[in-house]
Amino acid sequence: MRTLSIILWSMLKTSYATWLEVDLQAIRHNIEKIQSLTNVSVMAVVKANAYGHGLINVARTVRKMGLEWLGVARIDEALLLRDKGINGKILVLGHTDPIDVPLAVRHHISLAVHSQSLVLPYQEMASHYDEKLMVHAKIDTGMSRLGEEYTQAVQFIRSLFDCEGLQVEGVFTHMARADELSLDTTDNQIEKFDKILEDLGPEREKIQWIHAANSAAAVFHPNTRFNMVRPGISIYGLNPSEEAPLPAGFEPALSWKSVITSVKTVPPHRGISYGHRYITSNYEKIGTISVGYGDGYRRVPGNEVLVNGRKVPVLGNVCMDQCVISLNGLPDVKTGDEVVLLGKQGDQEISAETLAKKWNTIVYEPICGLTGRIPRVYLNE
Ligand SMILES: Cc1ncc(COP(=O)(O)O)c(C=O)c1O
Repeated sequence: MRTLSIILWSMLKTSYATWLEVDLQAIRHNIEKIQSLTNVSVMAVVKANAYGHGLINVARTVRKMGLEWLGVARIDEALLLRDKGINGKILVLGHTDPIDVPLAVRHHISLAVHSQSLVLPYQEMASHYDEKLMVHAKIDTGMSRLGEEYTQAVQFIRSLFDCEGLQVEGVFTHMARADELSLDTTDNQIEKFDKILEDLGPEREKIQWIHAANSAAAVFHPNTRFNMVRPGISIYGLNPSEEAPLPAGFEPALSWKSVITSVKTVPPHRGISYGHRYITSNYEKIGTISVGYGDGYRRVPGNEVLVNGRKVPVLGNVCMDQCVISLNGLPDVKTGDEVVLLGKQGDQEISAETLAKKWNTIVYEPICGLTGRIPRVYLNE
């Protein structure tokens, strides 16, 4: 089966200007690692197109593994999952306008209620249905983003228990600095969260799911695990931060590839690409690839790609759909040869972490920024 899909893929791939290869076996393997590390339920976070890896295929893979929960940021993402036949539990972690409550009820999508001010509007919208709206109370213990203030949390959760149209399925919070291992911010947040759960007394038993941990918290702060963790970046095999690298054995799932579309030699003093930010010093061999900032490849100096197992620089400005690369010292390179922007070629690798560093950002941004026009090819389905 695997051989067949590789043969089919190698027949197809030459038609793509650029493409992403997503290794679904790596995702399965990373989820199993998180499961065995934490020993609690795992909600796979698949928001932002599964961190660029492709919402539907990743969600299907997760479901096939038997995971019950998927986490998304917006109701549109949840509806797309339902539209593609993905069943099981879905939690919208971000804000949902009360006007969309009927959609949530009809499609069995659980919502985060993040403020007392939403309780009545949600209840009012849900009251027109026989079925209840499933909610998870979101508490702000120190992220200072969405969430009812921790000082008001007990009365907030109790008010949700009293709402007829709503069923409280879960209570959760979110860690602001779990990837900075030297700090005590996470412990302080968890102390506040624990106190809320304690103050609920026997009513705590009514809450099925208690969750707080993103990847860094799940891996490095056992006291954040409760009975479910919400990993995102780690299931894609990437480190939450330099300070919080994943334990050995996690595998990046994503590679980004292209092919050389032209090869030529240009004379000295030739300006390359828009703005002529690179000028040749000698006769130089250059090539083009069909990758640009329209795909999410950042227009900054210092980019490198892999050709024939060697790192070569991108020359001059990245354009919307193309860029120019140096092919000096690569006499055998020809059009159609594979170029790797992210991933391995021979014994060389450009990791998402390396790309993020060059782009002066966190590893999440380059992958979430991969635009929709790049075809995703799934390996090991
Ligand atoms: C509420 C919430 N939970 C979980 C996650 C997953 O975080 P990570 O990708 O760091 O594991 C995120 C991601 O930003 C989030 O916003």
